[in-house]
Amino acid sequence: MDADGDRDGSPGVDPARALADGGRPEWYRDAVVYSLDVKTFQDSDGDGWGDFRGLIDRLDYLDELGVDCLWIRPFYPSPLRDNGYDVADYRDVDDRLGSLEAVDALVEAADERGIRLITDLVLNHTSVDHEWFQRAREDPESKYHDYYLWTSHVEQAYNTSNIFPEYEDGVWSYDEVADKHYFHQFYNHQPDLNVANPDVQEELFSIAEFWLERGIDGFRIDAAHPMVLPKGHNAHRMDDPQWFFRELKRRAREVNDEAVLLAEADDEPDRLDFYFAGGEAFDALFNFVGNSHVTYGVGVEDTWPLYRMFEQIPDADPDGHVWWANFLRNHDEWNLLKLPHEALEHAREFFREGHGDGRDSWIFGRGHRLRLADLYDGDHDRIAMAHSLLLSLPGTPILFSGDEIGMHADLDLPERQAVRTPMRWDGDEPNAGFSTADPADLVLPVDGTGWPGVFQADVAGQRGVAGSLFERVADATAARADSPEVARGDCSIVHVDPKEVWAHRFDHDGTTLVAVHNFADEPREVTVDFDVAAGDAERVVGDADYRVGDGAATVTLDGCGYLWLRGRRR
Ligand code: NOJ
Repeated sequence: MDADGDRDGSPGVDPARALADGGRPEWYRDAVVYSLDVKTFQDSDGDGWGDFRGLIDRLDYLDELGVDCLWIRPFYPSPLRDNGYDVADYRDVDDRLGSLEAVDALVEAADERGIRLITDLVLNHTSVDHEWFQRAREDPESKYHDYYLWTSHVEQAYNTSNIFPEYEDGVWSYDEVADKHYFHQFYNHQPDLNVANPDVQEELFSIAEFWLERGIDGFRIDAAHPMVLPKGHNAHRMDDPQWFFRELKRRAREVNDEAVLLAEADDEPDRLDFYFAGGEAFDALFNFVGNSHVTYGVGVEDTWPLYRMFEQIPDADPDGHVWWANFLRNHDEWNLLKLPHEALEHAREFFREGHGDGRDSWIFGRGHRLRLADLYDGDHDRIAMAHSLLLSLPGTPILFSGDEIGMHADLDLPERQAVRTPMRWDGDEPNAGFSTADPADLVLPVDGTGWPGVFQADVAGQRGVAGSLFERVADATAARADSPEVARGDCSIVHVDPKEVWAHRFDHDGTTLVAVHNFADEPREVTVDFDVAAGDAERVVGDADYRVGDGAATVTLDGCGYLWLRGRRR
């Protein structure tokens, strides 16, 4: 790979506008996705809230990082009791963040750079502030009453545990106006929609159409798993949930034939096939099994979790119907429930070490409200290696805003807000360059202290600085763009001896690409099959030394070292 040619979004496979055989869009398989929250990314008007105009001003940064697609977290009008996942109006924009016209301007500016946009669609529930709920509670005769799930006999009603167990006792709350209880799997201010109701289904389809008509390229469907769980007094389910998702896709594709649907479905591994529906429903699923196993394995310097992850999930299938959206961290807690129990217990203690100030990062009985930099003790070599690994896995990689510079969590903030503080652009500027507002007016504090002695990362200290974390992540995104093997090749695990080294390979169109990652802090050497003439071997990314000969490559890795090596097979 030539060193500079690849930062300009000129991937080995042109993801532009192509539909594969069978009419499926291809672009998302090659894309590097970046997840951000507009309100904490860049404030352009000094009111303390990030906004669409500020995001547009920062597109060059994202372009330079090698981002092909933004996943924009909820920006709709909302009381923000769950960071916007409590939607009060699906067809508008929180006016502190911008307007519908500002979204149009972003669509246009992003398109000029070849960057696509995916937004969050929260279809499982609304905010209690949504007009539907207000009308529902006021008038039991109105059609909106049946948009939600009510009971007058809560003692006899179906009950189950709430998804936020630290905050909610169960799934029913009393509403004084309706004089009934309503069903909610999340916070009590997020009543579940009666998604089995055809009127509700039609509303949800038309919301998707509304945003696609504005130029959005697809959706992250929030809480897809809770959507299909039993709901309401009689534990009712949608008659045919696959039909709902298939129909959502059909309606979406009618507006935009390259629209993609990405599911947040943290279901059991043997249930995941269901969401793909043989290629007819979701195009990709978040890889929650991968998230817990990969981030844990890299942190504890052991590869067994990766072997286990590949055993548990259906194989990604470049031609077909199973595709993963891989990630190291996201804006929620680092959920460890997919790990075996002993490993979960180990992770609970292990990742608390090193911070030592007694503040508890454990939440919901299942995870840590920490960022990657906290999990890896601020070690940029480990964070860079983890990103290289992420970008080399079969599936679409999703970067979490701020992790590319090693931002830390702020445990002084409540709940998951700890991992959602504003982007740190320049530590020498007020509010680290996020906003010119008085710090008291910021949407969330800019993390300036963290744990005593912890280095506060910023963009200014890393962008353009050779060997910085930002530059290494950008090199890895460029490598991914230049490696059609990863999205399209046959992937296989390469078994190597040291348990701290993970190796896998792709075979595609006559070439082999081998990716080797050393989770240990100490150097390691491995030899892997590599049937390429020595002169044909090409370093794609990573600075490990290698020798090629006799059908093999011997790779000498520093602690946290990595290498992607490509060649034409003999
Ligand atoms: C998943 C989102 O990622 C999370 O932030 C939110 O609280 C729940 N869904 C409820 O919408």
